[in-house]
Amino acid sequence: MVFAAKVSEVPLWGKKVVTMNGQEILLVNSKGTIYACETECPHQGAPLSGALLKDADIITCQRHGYRFNLQSGECKEFPEYTLKTYPVQMVGDEIHVEI
Ligand code: FES
Repeated sequence: MVFAAKVSEVPLWGKKVVTMNGQEILLVNSKGTIYACETECPHQGAPLSGALLKDADIITCQRHGYRFNLQSGECKEFPEYTLKTYPVQMVGDEIHVEI
């Protein structure tokens, strides 16, 4: 697990892109739970920094509306596409991610 950001840097229902070991990771605060995932949609590569967060634990790509579970990466409607997600651990007010 590697330090990624302070919790205060990822606002509620917000996102933040961080670079860890030269790799960009998207941190997401969905209803108070922090998730980490890849920054590009596995469908056609839209940047997920502009994705929508409306439902808990779900990120919705703004380009074609595919919905991914932030925990498992699963897309129920299009199961052939899976979002890469990373384990997150909270250490006090710090977000640590395993990449
Ligand atoms: S590029 Fe994300 S749904 Fe198509």
